[in-house]
Formats: sequence, C-alpha cells, structure tokens
Amino acid sequence: MTRLVAISGSLRKGSFNTALLRAALDMAPEGVEIVEGTIRGIPLYDADVEASDGIPQAVARLKDQVAEADGVILFTPEYNNGIPGVFKNAIDWMSRPPADIPRVFGGKPFAIAGASPGNFGTLLSQEAWLPTMRTLGTVPWFGAKLMVSRAATVIEDGRIVDEATERKLRDFIAGFAAFVANFKD
Ligand code: FNR
Repeated sequence: MTRLVAISGSLRKGSFNTALLRAALDMAPEGVEIVEGTIRGIPLYDADVEASDGIPQAVARLKDQVAEADGVILFTPEYNNGIPGVFKNAIDWMSRPPADIPRVFGGKPFAIAGASPGNFGTLLSQEAWLPTMRTLGTVPWFGAKLMVSRAATVIEDGRIVDEATERKLRDFIAGFAAFVANFKD
C-alpha cells in the first residue's frame, strides 16, 4: 500500500484548494491511500515557545502524518504572488527541531498543485515553494502541473463541476502515486 498525505494551505471553509484536496481523496488509485493533513491549530512560529514547550500538538500530529506517508502533496493558494503565510508558517514549524534525524521531509517524494480565482492558477506560489522544499530535502515530482485557474468557474460549493479539471486532477494524482510507488521499490 502506498500512502500519501495531502495538505491544503487554506483555512477557509469555501477553500478551492481544500476542495481540490477533498476531491483527490476519492481519486486514489488501487493500492494507494490518501490521507488529509491539516494546518488548522498551528500557532505562529515562536522560538521562545519552542524552547519552553517544544513542538505544538497540531505540528506534531502533522509531522507524524508526513513521517508515516510515502509522499506529500501540497495544495497551495497564492497570496500576493507568493506563499500564504499560514502555510509557510506550518511547514516551517514542521522543520523543527533541526536536529531531527531523519528530517521529516527528507527524501520524501513531493508534489504541488493549487487553485486560484485568477488567470494564473497559483503559478507563482508553486514556484515560490520550490526553494523551501529543496531545503527540506524533498524529492520533487515534476511529471505534471496542476494550476487550476478561474477556480470559481470550475469548483462550486466545494465540488469540482468541470470535467477537464476533474480529469487533470485524477491524472495528477495517478502520476504522482505511480512515481511514489516506484520510488519506494
Ligand atoms: C489573494 N488572491 C490571489 N490570487 C492569485 O491568483 N494571486 C495572488 O497574488 C493573490 N493574492 C492574494 C492575496 C491575499 C492576501 C488574499 C487573501 C488573496 C486570491 C486567492 O487566490 C483566493 O482568495 C483563493 O480563493 C485563496 O485560496 P482558497 O482559500 O480558495 O484555497
């Protein structure tokens, strides 16, 4: 069994990115399980809090999910042509403590996708994630791109209503899952 963890970088109920993630959960090919990880409840990073209390529970839970997974998918929104702060904050927390061996993302296959109401479908935030994911030691999969633009026209009430978008997501998940399964062997 290949296990993937998918994380959305948006907290809002009507999130297009969470809608993509939820649709992806039902698209796992045979022999693949996709679990949803959440950034909800992760506080702002504060080195003093880390020194006194250690890693917050919500961070530890997400780290465990990533550690148990064979691959990670980020569904990222784009804010001001970059990574949303809440999402970057969560991943930064997960990189702590630096002495962690093995590093939670180290050697982990990684894919990125995203949706935005604009015309470029998170192109710039997906690009902006790459230096961070390289620093964390992930193994990126570039076999397909999934940048869902004009999201309000293809996602309604949390569901994909456009066949082409659904097909692209299914292909994306299948492609990444095959990469991960192959990587494991
Ligand atoms: C945005 N949005 C946005 N969209 C985009 O394509 N490029 C951008 O640079 C920005 N910038 C931006 C900044 C801030 C502060 C906000 C709050 C929003 C719009 C954004 O894509 C939209 O709110 C999405 O719906 C966010 O993703 P979720 O929450 O639907 O997953």
